[in-house]
Amino acid sequence: MTSEEGFKVTSLKGKVTLITGASSGIGAGASVMFAKLGALLALNGRDLENLTKVAKQCTDLGAAEPLLVPGDLTNEDTVKNTVEQTIAHFGRLDVLINSAGILAMGSIETGDLAQYDKVMNVNVRSVYHLTQLCVPHLIKTKGSIVNVSSVNGQRSFPGVLAYCMSKSAIDQFTRCIALELASKQVRVNSVCPGVIITDVHRRAGLDEDQYAQFLEKCKQTHALGRPGEVEEVAHAIAFLASDASTFITGVNLPVDGGRHAMCPR
Ligand SMILES: NC(=O)c1ccc[n+]([C@@H]2O[C@H](COP(=O)([O-])OP(=O)(O)OC[C@H]3O[C@@H](n4cnc5c(N)ncnc54)[C@H](OP(=O)(O)O)[C@@H]3O)[C@@H](O)[C@H]2O)c1
Repeated sequence: MTSEEGFKVTSLKGKVTLITGASSGIGAGASVMFAKLGALLALNGRDLENLTKVAKQCTDLGAAEPLLVPGDLTNEDTVKNTVEQTIAHFGRLDVLINSAGILAMGSIETGDLAQYDKVMNVNVRSVYHLTQLCVPHLIKTKGSIVNVSSVNGQRSFPGVLAYCMSKSAIDQFTRCIALELASKQVRVNSVCPGVIITDVHRRAGLDEDQYAQFLEKCKQTHALGRPGEVEEVAHAIAFLASDASTFITGVNLPVDGGRHAMCPR
């Protein structure tokens, strides 16, 4: 057995991969991981400067120049253009990674409909739309989809209501379309991270002190005694997208240091 046969994650070499949320955090980490594995990348994010920095990290590793398809995915035209440009550039699509998402603090008492709509539009509606437009192309290549969900989709936490609901929807979306597409040999899975060190919590309103306290608390709330790193999620995404997982579909995989098995706190 050659080393390549032994590590089937190397099947991602030459695979055309569209990654959303590629300008920051988990999506950026996945982009760099896929670049290391030789994938051909189409990258979406809103912040073109950050997206360009991630693309440079990829090319510095020897990867082919990624195609940048920037824009807000709640805009339906952006979604259509993202798919059309990717297909026009590469001629096909093998892998879709849906990582774009937002967190918002709000309970049934403090949240409002505007917050609910914003979270659902980014975290669910845009994922539904983008995936729908990618599916015909993924059927042609017998490709795979990995959605970035959250432990918040599997467990209930107070104070992040719309976010928890959005991630439950993504897990159900993942399981349903895995069944719908299985006969066409398209696999669909999600990763469900615990707390991962990215900008998402500060963007949701935590200041530096609150964020430091939150990370400290992760020592108790995660069985492994710490929050996770972007690269640890990127490894799981690469596994689920690649031929290392050819008999796995419809799985919502916890990547959370044992968080899903612990009491909510
Ligand atoms: N970090 C965690 O603890 C954690 C845990 C569980 C799940 N997750 C999930 O992981 C995913 C990535 O989050 P992250 O932690 O990497 O957060 P992040 O660093 O804040 O990155 C979020 C990404 O989503 C993009 N994005 C947000 N709204 C968008 C929109 N309307 N259109 C297009 N792109 C948009 C952002 O683009 P711009 O920056 O260019 O605006 C950015 O690239 C999310 O789905 C999140 O729910 C995170």
